[in-house]
Amino acid sequence: MLDRNHSRTAEATAAIRACHLRYDTPLVFADPYAAQLTSPLWRAVASTPLLYWPIVRGLLGALRPVHGWILVRDQMTVDDLQAYVARGGRQYVLLGAGFDSIALRRPAWLEGVNIVEVDHPATQAVKLARMARSGATLPLADFEAVPIDFERENLHDGLARSSFNADAPSFFAWQGVIYYLSSSAIADTLRHIGELSAPGSELVFDFLLPGFALQQGRGHVLSLTRAVTARMGERYVSYHTPEDLERLLSAVGYELVDVQRDVDLQARYCADRDDDLSVMHGFGIARARKC
Ligand SMILES: C[S@@+](CC[C@H](N)C(=O)[O-])C[C@H]1O[C@@H](n2cnc3c(N)ncnc32)[C@H](O)[C@@H]1O
Repeated sequence: MLDRNHSRTAEATAAIRACHLRYDTPLVFADPYAAQLTSPLWRAVASTPLLYWPIVRGLLGALRPVHGWILVRDQMTVDDLQAYVARGGRQYVLLGAGFDSIALRRPAWLEGVNIVEVDHPATQAVKLARMARSGATLPLADFEAVPIDFERENLHDGLARSSFNADAPSFFAWQGVIYYLSSSAIADTLRHIGELSAPGSELVFDFLLPGFALQQGRGHVLSLTRAVTARMGERYVSYHTPEDLERLLSAVGYELVDVQRDVDLQARYCADRDDDLSVMHGFGIARARKC
């Protein structure tokens, strides 16, 4: 859980995107802004092969399946968002946006879509400073950053002081966040998402499976990742089964449409690769729709 510090795990996921763009072929997800948005240290590692290979692929090589997890999550979110926009959706809310760069990339199909990024105040302040330093002219059109600490503040009140329109359907992405939050913060935030969701709204988020739900012997990368993120000051504290999520979502007026598992995402985004990019076991991505 974050307090006054910005999220180091968010910098790490941006670093994974930056390294992927430079060193992996073919690309699962292309983010030309990731290197500018991550920390100076990660930027140096990503841009210097003499650092990248011994550090990322040597020292941290056992975490390679985490790259797959982050990259397929990013691309699936964009694919689902694009389909949502094609159906007429005009509002995109990123909860725990981290150093996501969609507001800077702004593909043509996102023209006219209002992007609202919610994040912990410390992470968001660093991100906005890095966006400005990278040459972005702030404020960007159809973009708003709303600082909210999910452990202390209320999503409803936070969005009420923003351009967010609760009468219009939204696509909510809450990727890479819920396992860092207490069960009360998850339930509260879901309740507010439910209240703020006009019919036709959609929600996508990833979650971690509890130990008992892991296939035997396939949880070692997740265990290692848990130790690494704890060292960064961000502990995994919440784990869910799809049945838990179904209950939580139905209580707030959402229907769980499906859960994408590592094998589904590996087959969809990483099949037929010649390199070692694979998807970590132990997470799922839930897709839900407002009833
Ligand atoms: C692993 S990062 C994921 C960032 C981004 N969604 C991505 O996939 O790259 C976790 C994000 O959760 C946010 N976060 C963690 N605890 C939070 C809290 N209590 N309130 C608001 N945001 C929080 C962090 O600021 C960070 O942006």
